Amino acid sequence: MSRMSVTLGTPLQSSAYKVLLLGSGELGKEVVISLQRLGVEVHAADRYSNAPAMQVAHFSYTIDMTDPVALQQLIESIQPHLIVPEIEAIATDVLIDIESKNIAKVIPSAKAVSLTMNREGIRVLAAEELGLPTSAYRFANSLESFRAACDDIGYPNFVKPVMSSSGKGQSRVKAFEEVDAAWEYAQTGGRVQNCTVIVEAQIDFDFEITLLTVRAQNPETGEIETHFCDPIGHRQDAGDYVESWQPQAMSPIALEEAKRIADKVTKALGGCGVFGVELFIKADKVWFSEVSPRPHDTGLVTLASQFQSEFELHARAILGLSVNTTRHSQAASAVIYAGVDANDLSYSNLNLALQHPDTDLRLFGKPEGFKRRRMGVATARAETTDQARQLAQAAADQVVVSHHK
Ligand SMILES: Nc1ncnc2c1ncn2[C@@H]1O[C@H](COP(=O)(O)OP(=O)(O)OP(=O)(O)O)[C@@H](O)[C@H]1O
Ligand SMILES: [Mg+2]
Repeated sequence: MSRMSVTLGTPLQSSAYKVLLLGSGELGKEVVISLQRLGVEVHAADRYSNAPAMQVAHFSYTIDMTDPVALQQLIESIQPHLIVPEIEAIATDVLIDIESKNIAKVIPSAKAVSLTMNREGIRVLAAEELGLPTSAYRFANSLESFRAACDDIGYPNFVKPVMSSSGKGQSRVKAFEEVDAAWEYAQTGGRVQNCTVIVEAQIDFDFEITLLTVRAQNPETGEIETHFCDPIGHRQDAGDYVESWQPQAMSPIALEEAKRIADKVTKALGGCGVFGVELFIKADKVWFSEVSPRPHDTGLVTLASQFQSEFELHARAILGLSVNTTRHSQAASAVIYAGVDANDLSYSNLNLALQHPDTDLRLFGKPEGFKRRRMGVATARAETTDQARQLAQAAADQVVVSHHK
């Protein structure tokens, strides 16, 4: 077969290869930096101005991405080659339409983006169509059906709005007495009114991992191949990641099963790019939890552990370039929260945080902070992941976030 040619132009010129990023958070910021290094012209959108990825893009736009008319207009005015969603709250019908008319390529695919924006879509695909192991689950769209679903699934269980992320509206229900409160709470956390919720049986796992899975074209044949990064272990607090490390040690049988599941679900979603496949592990047994069709927050650790971080891998894969998922170090990441509700924050003691030669920091530059908002991350490399976790946490703890005076 003949070699494929990938050609990129010059940004801000007529030859420019244009990427539109929908969502401009910290993960998008790193993707933009990777794209910039290859001379891609980057347009970044979000619902607020000066979002992290906007600060490193060529152009930025503050729009409501759930508004189909506004989104359609933006795409038509930019005419990007690629549309790269970085968040879930997007008018995905517009993306389906854009893809079907070949106006732009949606990363990784419009199907992947629309199925994963709703827990119902991806859960039904994984469990019912692909037959992958998941927790037992029920969906409910009224208090009455919710009570029945909880009783059916049993306790403890996990309740999540089907359209939400980062633990919003999520609770762990230990007994029937807590059911009504969980319903109320879910209604406050969903992206829409009267939202459907999923009730999941609790999986009693030993640990949970993100298996970063990259679908990328083989440069010789053009065939899409699947690559895996080493598993990333992580700890979640209230549905939000607080630290991660790579590699997570696991049995060879569980690792094979994890790869089988990740391969199957990412193939079904289609397209090229990085996917964060979230899995629960107990000894040799593996359950599918969910998948992000984009770089994953727990994968920030790859900035310190791999030759190509998950952001470079994503940039390369979506451009049709080959990827290398090799890890060179054991590493960890620890999240830095604002700790205060305030704008215009300052970060002190950075010299102390970076004193150890194997530590590093990413400060995202978010204009507004609130107590549990992720403002940065510390990473560290060490001989073991336990040491790396300690170092990363110590570095994160050094950083003092305060209102600028
Ligand atoms: N069925 C379950 N059994 C056991 N633990 C669970 C279950 N569902 C969720 N959890 C715990 O809650 C965490 C968050 O759940 P989940 O990933 O579904 O939510 P999320 O809002 O999508 O979070 P994020 O956006 O940060 O990935 C999981 O990583 C896991 O620690
Ligand atoms: Mg998750």
